[in-house]
Amino acid sequence: MPTLTNDPNWYRQAVVYQIYPRSFADANGDGLGDLAGITSRVDHLATLGVDAVWLSPFYPSALADGGYDVDDYRNVDPRLGTLDDFDALVAALHERGIRVIVDIVPNHSGSGHVWFQDALRAGKGSPERDRYIFRDGLGDDQSKPPAEWTASFGGPAWEPVGDGQFYLHMFDVAQPDWNWDNPEVIDDFHTTLRFWSDRGVDGFRVDVANLMVKDLSEPLPTMAEMGSPNSIMGCDRLNDLPGVHDIYRGWREVFNEYDPPRMAVAEAWVPSERRPAYARPDELGQAFNFDLLLAPWDAAAFRQIAESNLALADQSGASTTWVLSNHDIVRHVTRYGLPIGAGEQEGMPGTAAAKAYVLSDGAAPEFDEELGRRRAAAGTMLILALPGSSYLYQGEELGLKEVIEIADDQRQDPTFFRSPGVDKGRDGCRVPLPWTPTGTSYGFGVGDQVAPAHLPQPEWFADFAVSVQDEDPSSMLNLYRKALGLRRGLLGDETVTFHDSGEGVLHVERPGGWHSVTNFTQAAADVPEVLAGAEVLLSSSSDEVSGEVPANTTVWFRA
Ligand code: GLC
Repeated sequence: MPTLTNDPNWYRQAVVYQIYPRSFADANGDGLGDLAGITSRVDHLATLGVDAVWLSPFYPSALADGGYDVDDYRNVDPRLGTLDDFDALVAALHERGIRVIVDIVPNHSGSGHVWFQDALRAGKGSPERDRYIFRDGLGDDQSKPPAEWTASFGGPAWEPVGDGQFYLHMFDVAQPDWNWDNPEVIDDFHTTLRFWSDRGVDGFRVDVANLMVKDLSEPLPTMAEMGSPNSIMGCDRLNDLPGVHDIYRGWREVFNEYDPPRMAVAEAWVPSERRPAYARPDELGQAFNFDLLLAPWDAAAFRQIAESNLALADQSGASTTWVLSNHDIVRHVTRYGLPIGAGEQEGMPGTAAAKAYVLSDGAAPEFDEELGRRRAAAGTMLILALPGSSYLYQGEELGLKEVIEIADDQRQDPTFFRSPGVDKGRDGCRVPLPWTPTGTSYGFGVGDQVAPAHLPQPEWFADFAVSVQDEDPSSMLNLYRKALGLRRGLLGDETVTFHDSGEGVLHVERPGGWHSVTNFTQAAADVPEVLAGAEVLLSSSSDEVSGEVPANTTVWFRA
């Protein structure tokens, strides 16, 4: 039985698997995934070979934003289980040598949080209101918001509470922003970090880590004046202010109370050169690098991103991270199956095209599913070969593409409701996983009377079920298993050499003679000369590798 070491650096090159708990496995068959469901499927995680799981929020929540509206930071949503279920899950994962990272959402709570309810009741000028961001309305009757700001999910960012005051919410109206100038808020988050650390959690993923500190000095500027006409997210008085780093230095002291110290990874959508500040060892220690989510399928783009992010990570002494899919982004099978370059005019290659595709209900532009899946496998093997941690998202090991067959009245994501017609939202990557090819919810739910999954599963899910892929040696699932197993044995220190092995090819060498060659082009490429006679360890496609790396394929070699 694997035992977990006290190595403080365990996460630096870990493979972390993100679980979206409501959509992973449903032990009581009510249609909503739960913690006991995850526990019942730990064998899947162990066989896959991941080092850690990151659990998206499972806390009590009105689910206005898929659980990122937290009503109680130190409990489990009763629909998802109990604290005992949580302890059982941690024990089951730890027994199999898998660490546990939980999500911390510090920018805002849910509007059902007891402190927010207290604030509403206590009224203007009260210490209760001071835990959130309340301001007087403008105009004689105070009916106008303190500023005309648009929340990141659309709609006004200041919400009236009926007594002349408004509260700030950068996201959904049910997500009031905390006031981080208030010491009670600071203390309460320390309590939360200790609460989960004491329960055996190994680390934290920090939600929108760049937003908590705001410069709200009067007069409040317009968004255009703050340099972000369309979204409150990019406003320079609300984003990435130096004060956030004081908060994280305080958190680091809490993390270091434990042995090994708890790790943390920042979700901070900031310009890449700002990332090292969050990843400093005396702060969070690691920050997500999302550059590949926005990159086209192109060797030069991937190489530039790889080299620049390794250099950025070096600046703070952190290891970098690689992400191709998560719960906020169109799945990479879909992104890579769309024409190269589509959507670039929006400044978000790949992702913008994919959003347009989802918005068109799949009508346009042209989507090549096989190509997308083939590139997705190649992309995954490439990131796994780079130094740093790879964060995988549930379902990518099954080669799932984005689900676009969701009727408008079945959608749940606030980005859909608050931007009517402009964005379909993120439900398409959050559909409950298929475990078996048949059954009411494809094995997602178990029990005597299984309810349909909370988001509709398309019929094509049957072919992608875990049990189907388990038996197929050439399935995506078995490729992931082989890749993760090999990687574990191959992994050395965090160094890498980039070789120039031809246009459209990205060739990296890791210690111990481990080479990874990705051919991004549509035609086979010669195996680089230095690898003549080298052992082929694994290929992301089933085409033969003899002297050539097939099109849209990654091959690992040992030289
Ligand atoms: C993060 C989460 C996203 C959520 C938002 C607000 O970006 O990843 O899912 O909607 O924060 O909490």
